[in-house]
This record gives sequence, structure tokens and C-alpha cells, in this order.
Amino acid sequence: MTDSVKLTGVTKRFGDVLAVDDLHLNVADGEFFSLLGPSGCGKTTTLRMIAGFEFPTSGSLTIRGQEMALNPPNERPVNTVFQSYALFPHMTIEENVGFGLRMKKVAPADIAQRVKRTLDMVQLSHRASASPSQLSGGQQQRVALARALVNEPQVLLLDEPLGALDLKLRQAMQLELKDLQQRVGITFIYVTHDQDEALTMSDRIGVMSDGKLLQVGGPQDIYEHPRSRFVADFIGEINLMPAVAVDRDSVKLLDGQVLMAPHDAPAGRSVTVAIRPERFTLFRPDAEIPSGRSSIAGKVIRRIYHGDVFLYDVDTAEGLLEVKEENRPNVEVFEIDSQVVVSWSPSAATVIED
Ligand SMILES: Nc1ncnc2c1ncn2[C@@H]1O[C@H](COP(=O)(O)OP(=O)(O)O)[C@@H](O)[C@H]1O
Ligand SMILES: [Mg+2]
Repeated sequence: MTDSVKLTGVTKRFGDVLAVDDLHLNVADGEFFSLLGPSGCGKTTTLRMIAGFEFPTSGSLTIRGQEMALNPPNERPVNTVFQSYALFPHMTIEENVGFGLRMKKVAPADIAQRVKRTLDMVQLSHRASASPSQLSGGQQQRVALARALVNEPQVLLLDEPLGALDLKLRQAMQLELKDLQQRVGITFIYVTHDQDEALTMSDRIGVMSDGKLLQVGGPQDIYEHPRSRFVADFIGEINLMPAVAVDRDSVKLLDGQVLMAPHDAPAGRSVTVAIRPERFTLFRPDAEIPSGRSSIAGKVIRRIYHGDVFLYDVDTAEGLLEVKEENRPNVEVFEIDSQVVVSWSPSAATVIED
């Protein structure tokens, strides 16, 4: 695969603030890549450096193999969609989308054709002559997308573009955006602090904290095999159990039991075993646990009914564990104060070494 955007040792300082710290990142051609992290971690600054609105303090940034770190935005084959997308209120949708092309003095016939094609792409052809105020929030966001796509960029940069929409609409737009990206086939680099959004849409995710890229991987990899406490905690709920490395294939929990879980920590080192709540299963104390599974005894101290799932807090020798069980017809429901066994398969456990 060709690199669409490649950052090598990119650092950005604003005075004393180290906004982006020695970032190394390759985004492949046609990839939907998300930068995910809490507010202030350097996502927007990274995106603005790719767009050319900021220049790196040091490092190299190439787009399609060409060094671009210090080129102005108009020399780069990229376009940006912002959260606040201010459409021109006195222009029709069609005119809004064609505005940039008119400024660039593209021939009118070409403009008409490209605007039409782009409005088709975002499914707004039927509203071409409406004014922005006649459109819903989601439709306006699609116009903002069209305005960027009409320039036929090789890379589209999106900075929390759905942040202003309510949850239902945001979820619908997530699927729509993913569809659109697959149809147009260009590289999307998407900034968000919303883990669900990143998991739903991305081919790969880069998790950032404090200007650093902590982990890059596919959604499933990031969710199921977080390599640091920060990534584990930031993406969804997770149980963290203190343990000690025994050898490269096993660790010992506080209650003395040894778990099979591969890792690289030297023997004797303190580690953390991370397990997602939905990877736990509850059994009655007298139940026969299927062989090969690990388990720990405990007492239910809280149960929350969520419609689709039950959430349990179970007090164990490893501390409080959160267990998520789907509300299926045959699933046994446990009462508060009942004794249970929390069980999991070895593949559910990830060892975190920090
Ligand atoms: N123009 C600027 N001048 C000074 N500090 C800035 C500027 N832009 C961003 N920062 C700082 O850089 C850090 C990263 O900001 P930003 O990239 O906007 O984070 P995010 O988009 O992840 O919320 C923050 O500490 C922010 O205050
Ligand atoms: Mg930001």
C-alpha cells in the first residue's frame, strides 16, 4: 500500500506547550484513519499540520511521497471539514458547494458538473436550490462535506465534524460518512474524542495522549488488546486486576492463582491484567466451570438493568469486577448478595506492562 500521509518525528511547540511530541504515523491510501484522544491531547494540531494551517517545529511530513511540512494549504491535495462549518446563508446549497471552484476560476460548465456529482454523492441533489436554513443539521453537515469533496482532494481531514449533532443523528451520520468514504475511495483522517465514533468508522485508530501517539491499530485490536492503562481506560469499560509476572506465558493474581496470558514483562514484575466486562460470565458457586477457563469467587453487590444487558458489580479477592451479561432468554439473573463465580477464557485477558 502507498502512504497517503506520513509523519516522521513531527513535533509542534507553542511557546512552552509541547502540543505534539515526536509523532510517527503512516496513513495508507484510501484508509479511514481516526485520531482519538481526550481534549487537549494534540489531535487538532496534528490535523492542522497535515492541512498546512500550522507548520511543525521539527520533523518531516509527506503527502503521497512529497515533502509538504512547510507548504501552504493551497499547495496540498487536502481539504478540511470543521465542526463549525458556517455555510453562506444567502447562497443556495448549489452555490455554497460551487463557491470554492468559482474563486479558483474553474470554467462554469465544469463547476456545474462537479457540483452536481458531489451533491449526488452526499444525496442532496434534490435540495440543490434550497437555502441552508431550509436544511436540517445533518443535511447542512453534508453540504459542508460536499464543499470539501468538490475540490477532489486526495485526503479529507475531518475535525470532530459531528460534534454539534445530537446522538441519534450523529450515529446515522457515522454510518453515512463511512459509506461515503468507501464510495469515493479517498483517504479520510478523522479527529474525535468519542471512542464509539472511532470504533464504528475507522479502518485504524491512533490513540493520543499528551501530544504522544500511544497505540495504533484496528478497532478490534485497540479495544481488545490495549497496550497501556491509558488506552484500556479511555476506550470503554475495563477491569484492571493487579498481578505479578511469573514467566512469559503466565501471571499470578493477588489470590495466588496463575493465569495463562502471554506478555513480555520479566519474572517478578508487577503487571495489570485487563478484561472487558462482557468477556466475563457469571456462574453459580456449585456450577461446573468449563475446563480451560479461569475463575474467581465473589459476591454480587450491585446489579443494573440496562434493557439489553445486566451490569453486575462483583466483590472478589481481586477487588470489584464489573460484569456485563446480555439479556438473553436463557441467561441466569443473579440477585444482590448472591455468591457467584466470575469466569473468563484465557484469550479474554490482556497483560498491560506499564
Ligand atoms: N495556537 C495555539 N497556541 C498555543 N497553544 C495551543 C495552540 N493550539 C493548541 N494549543 C495547545 O496545544 C495542546 C493541544 O491542543 P489541540 O491540538 O487543540 O488538542 P485537541 O484537538 O486534542 O483537543 C493544548 O494544550 C492546547 O492548549
Ligand atoms: Mg481539537
